[in-house]
Amino acid sequence: MKTPAGLQALIDDGVIDAVLRPLKSGKEASVYVVRAGDDVRCAKVYKDMAQRSFQQRVQYQEGRKVRGSREARAIGKASKYGRKQQETAWKNTEVDALYQLREAGVRVPEPHGYFHGVLVMELVVDAAGHSAPRLGEVELSPEQARTFHAFLVRQIVKMLCSGLVHGDLSPYNVLVAADGPVVIDFPQVVSAAGNNAARTMLLRDVNNITACLGGWAPELLDTWYGEEMWALFEAGELRPDTGLTGVFEHDESAPDIDGVRHAINDAREEALIRQQGREAAAEED
Ligand SMILES: Nc1ncnc2c1ncn2[C@@H]1O[C@H](COP(=O)(O)OP(=O)(O)O)[C@@H](O)[C@H]1O
Ligand SMILES: [Mg+2]
Repeated sequence: MKTPAGLQALIDDGVIDAVLRPLKSGKEASVYVVRAGDDVRCAKVYKDMAQRSFQQRVQYQEGRKVRGSREARAIGKASKYGRKQQETAWKNTEVDALYQLREAGVRVPEPHGYFHGVLVMELVVDAAGHSAPRLGEVELSPEQARTFHAFLVRQIVKMLCSGLVHGDLSPYNVLVAADGPVVIDFPQVVSAAGNNAARTMLLRDVNNITACLGGWAPELLDTWYGEEMWALFEAGELRPDTGLTGVFEHDESAPDIDGVRHAINDAREEALIRQQGREAAAEED
């Protein structure tokens, strides 16, 4: 195929040898299958800042370490310089997160470097060697759904122990590889300790996964792993291998300040209704 502009510099530098095909073009990035020597890899080319909403991500920046106070001030003010710097911070965040999470033993694509604004990483593939489908696109047995849920909850625990919350975890940011789920798409990753929104985001991340997999194994819809792991994390008691039960005693007297429980219950209710619909349809057959 004709080399996309964003990838020419990588070919010129010998980082990759050829662009094989486009994989996906989304709001924020275009992903290509590329060849580097004998290896087939994946290259994520970030779209320009201008095409993305700036304001929307301000909350994500909270708690993120930025080198130098000029940079921090510039980002805060969203000046032209700030936007430029933030774009750099934004792009590097995903790369940094992938290296950090690989180190922490989280199943994410293996990064192969960041060149000219392009992330080169492992191409996640299914058993047939094709690029892996997303979690939201596959049919699962209840047993598989339970296994995937336990595995993904463990990945989220490991991320949290490493100080990070994904922040945009959904069935579309989990790929189903031959050997199980792989978590992708980290530009908006947030610091677990320094960000007021981290808890809300963590609960939403867990809930998205639970609502999806609960469609295949409905008993998952009555688990509360996010609340449980956050309570342990806050108490300084969460370890990468801490056993969890999914049971959580809610403090019913506490005011619902962040409204997250509403969102959670809506998502769960929706998943339950969908499940009941499927069951009803199955009975009619
Ligand atoms: N390492 C990878 N291996 C295989 N497919 C990938 C990989 N990274 C991304 N993709 C595919 O590209 C899509 C978009 O990538 P993603 O990182 O989620 O960016 P965004 O959602 O911001 O466009 C994913 O949903 C997935 O289908
Ligand atoms: Mg994505």
